[in-house]
Amino acid sequence: MTQVRKAIIPVAGFGTRLLPISKSIPKEMVPVVDRPLIQHVVEEALAAGINEIILVTRSGKSAIEDHFDAHVELEDSLASKGKDDLLKMLADIAPPYLKITSVRQPNAQGLGHAVFCAAHLLSKDEPFAVILPDVLVKPQLGSTTCDLGDMVTRWDKSNAAQIMVEAVPEEEVYRYGIVDCSGNEPNAGDSVDMRGVVEKPKPEDAPSRLSVIGRYVLPYRVMELLSDQPPGAGNEVQLTDAIDRLMQEGKPVQAFRMNGRTFDCGNIDGWLKANSLLAREAGYDV
Ligand code: G1P
Repeated sequence: MTQVRKAIIPVAGFGTRLLPISKSIPKEMVPVVDRPLIQHVVEEALAAGINEIILVTRSGKSAIEDHFDAHVELEDSLASKGKDDLLKMLADIAPPYLKITSVRQPNAQGLGHAVFCAAHLLSKDEPFAVILPDVLVKPQLGSTTCDLGDMVTRWDKSNAAQIMVEAVPEEEVYRYGIVDCSGNEPNAGDSVDMRGVVEKPKPEDAPSRLSVIGRYVLPYRVMELLSDQPPGAGNEVQLTDAIDRLMQEGKPVQAFRMNGRTFDCGNIDGWLKANSLLAREAGYDV
């Protein structure tokens, strides 16, 4: 049994890059092929052996919680018509071992602040995962690897924090957290020690081209560091900065290079690409 039982999923963002779609629909509820984005992400957590999900949410986004709740009228209606296949589909969205809790982020002060909103739901010294739901991480076609699951296994063996990374072109480093691995580059499916991480650097200041994707396995200490983390890039409390302080304290942090593929569904272009590619792979005639 893994030590990592909880995943924090921040869902309080406005989703401005998906407007007008996301005006009254939470961006996490937009469909990717046959299910909402958030369902893919929760399935990824379950595949990694993480059954407890903490949503950090805000007003106007209750459709996300409703999606994982029972829908008694619909279930009664399907049962009375003998539609067992649809009943099973609904049951599979939230199997009994999946526990979903939500907390509110009262005002948007950055990713670090969102993650810290869940601090009181962890036991002291409990490690946790963070999953940013804009980005889908899927195995390569024909593979069943689960990168998040591999990160959890690595944490369990080494107690080194794991940060999932992938290479980006130099002109895109300013959009991401960029890791410093002392010039080493992990192979796919492997981790190397990090010595720093910087949020949204200018290309000339970037320590590498390895960007933080949005999958983290972190020690509880990060919550303590977030409790007094001053605002950083964009005047927001950055998770990246707390992870950098963790390394300055001498705690082990490693960059894990994913085996799989990412789809950034937080913008129209990436969301459309994810739908067209994944729909064809799933056998839809599009
Ligand atoms: C956040 C993180 C950043 C990471 C990115 C991945 O930035 O702060 O380190 O690289 O997610 O998508 P955001 O996209 O919220 O600005």
